[in-house]
Amino acid sequence: MDWGLKNRLSRIIKPDTGRTVMLAVDHGYFLGPTSGLEVPRKTIEPLIPYADSLMLTRGVLRTSVPAESSIPIVLRVSGGTSILGTLSNEGITTSIKEALRLNVSGVALSIFVGSPHEKETLLGLSNLINEAEEYGIPVLAVTAVGKDMARDARYLSLCCRIAAELGAHFVKTYYCEEFEKVIETCPVPVVIAGGKKTPELDALKLAYNAINKGAVGVDMGRNIFQSEAPVAMIKAVRAIVHKGKSVEEAYEIFNKEK
Ligand code: 5RP
Repeated sequence: MDWGLKNRLSRIIKPDTGRTVMLAVDHGYFLGPTSGLEVPRKTIEPLIPYADSLMLTRGVLRTSVPAESSIPIVLRVSGGTSILGTLSNEGITTSIKEALRLNVSGVALSIFVGSPHEKETLLGLSNLINEAEEYGIPVLAVTAVGKDMARDARYLSLCCRIAAELGAHFVKTYYCEEFEKVIETCPVPVVIAGGKKTPELDALKLAYNAINKGAVGVDMGRNIFQSEAPVAMIKAVRAIVHKGKSVEEAYEIFNKEK
């Protein structure tokens, strides 16, 4: 891995803990103004001090994050679908040149393994990696789970391994039973999405279990920005990810901070 790529990746996965708390706010690229993200700037600004990086689209980056900010960016570069269409039919929406112009630390693209568009999305990932490697930009493969796909270790291990085999530098997937099997068979770092909003205690348990089974961190969105107290929630997640706190200790932080 060349110096530049390593340097960019280290802005996301922090060297002192080997972990990361990424704030995912890219949902609008197919969901539109989803709850908690109606006004992106209002959602993002209070959370920036507690996130290791932001995962978002170029449109939200340009309009809703101060250019003076030093927070590392993981740019969502796939899309082209909406909640009204066929979600798996994504393509590349943002060029590597644009990613460079935006001075990002990484780029992210979804793959839809098992969907009618699996080939396009897997070749899309491969082409993105070919280009990104030229400029030393790490690629995060997002394993999207089609509605008729079982979110189990067998399926997620397949998706994560394929992404890693194609050259993704790190992978975002979901927590599941026997998650350790997903970790063991994926040769690159894995972060987990938080998924649909659940009670804060459950989301903290999810983060705790994922970390303790080998994930390097989270790329969490709805369970933070749809929380009754987003700043308290990201602080609690950080306590688990970076300070090795228990779920109970983290939940205490949440309740104290909210
Ligand atoms: C949406 C995404 C999100 O970045 C990912 O799902 C993480 O967000 P959440 O924690 O809300 O699931 O890729 O397509």
